[in-house]
Amino acid sequence: MKKVLYITILACSTLWVSCTEKNKQSVRTDSFIEKNVAFARAQIGNEIRIIEKSEKFTNPVTLKTDSTIYYCDYADWRSGFFPGSVWYLYELSGDTTLLSLADKYTSAIEEAKKLTWHHDVGFMINCSFGNGWRTTKVPRYKEVMIEAARSLATRFREKPGIIQSWDVTRGWQSERGWECPVIIDNMMNLELLFEATKLSGDSTFYHIAVNHADRTLKEHFRTNGSCYHVIDYSLADGMVRHRQTAQGYADESTWSRGQAWAIYGYTVCYRETHDKKYLNQALKTFQFMKTHPRLPKDLIPYWDMDAPNIPNEPRDASSASCIASALYEISTMDVPDANSYKIYADSIMASLASPNYLASLGKNGNFLLMHSVGSIPHGTEIDVPLNYADYYFLEALKRKRDIEEGTR
Ligand code: GLY
Repeated sequence: MKKVLYITILACSTLWVSCTEKNKQSVRTDSFIEKNVAFARAQIGNEIRIIEKSEKFTNPVTLKTDSTIYYCDYADWRSGFFPGSVWYLYELSGDTTLLSLADKYTSAIEEAKKLTWHHDVGFMINCSFGNGWRTTKVPRYKEVMIEAARSLATRFREKPGIIQSWDVTRGWQSERGWECPVIIDNMMNLELLFEATKLSGDSTFYHIAVNHADRTLKEHFRTNGSCYHVIDYSLADGMVRHRQTAQGYADESTWSRGQAWAIYGYTVCYRETHDKKYLNQALKTFQFMKTHPRLPKDLIPYWDMDAPNIPNEPRDASSASCIASALYEISTMDVPDANSYKIYADSIMASLASPNYLASLGKNGNFLLMHSVGSIPHGTEIDVPLNYADYYFLEALKRKRDIEEGTR
């Protein structure tokens, strides 16, 4: 069975690689891309060697305070990013030895498709199986995506018309007095639902995604374009109970990754629905960040743009790579001055690829980017590498390459 699957992947991908090779022959490859792909192949290659020596798949997330690598299991919200990075690396490098590895790491988290106790199944399954499906069209990946979308759909709450992010009976979330908390991050889970409708023909997933995007548009944003992190709804009447933060500096502050999730999430919503109000929100939130008086010259945001000790506050490379990836997509859309978004994304990428953020080979726990922040209020992952910073960096690199080669 495994052999048949592998042969199917190889056959689909050989076809894909030969098409890509044809494109490459006629187009000059930018040395920025070549250089960064070569580095990523070598750095992630180091990590792959460690994984392959261990007995089971160890899924790298970040560095712990003792500088050893933290590996997660399938149920962690970050479990899809490393498999997804290997899919992107395969596409970027054309190295077919990465194919069976991407399949193996993706398959190792398949259980995540059944998760119904948090909303992150979208991140987990779309970044892993979603990229696998997009790249190889292996039918099993599609089935996993549809099942994962069914799991995510169980979290839709009729009265507020949203997908509930966190359960309030577990962990630190149980101490906040919330009833139905929804975080802006949840916008990133909608892509799985849009895909599931296209793959299954069941429009329920699409409607849930649109309902969620509409209510979030109404409740999560301030008039200046920035967004709150957490909105807590009443399950009984759907009204807003609280507007707060969990990972930002303060309820009214600008948590940078939240802005990144909003920009990226509404860009996807526009792609999938062609409804301009979504694109307008993505652009408004981006404009807010771009013109923020405290945005550093190198365009890598502080973890929170209202943190009290700016400029002596940690940066967040993960926000930057996610925003860059979204901007490359926006630059291909029907927007005035579309190329300006690519130019801005190129500047972010130039910063990220500089020695200030890009690690040295063999250092940084074999992650690509340094200087991200998980959650300062929880005292976790402060100024460290994070696998999602790397994932969006590689995605952005691929989008940049495809735009420059005219294949996107
Ligand atoms: N989704 C959790 C985070 O952005 O840190």
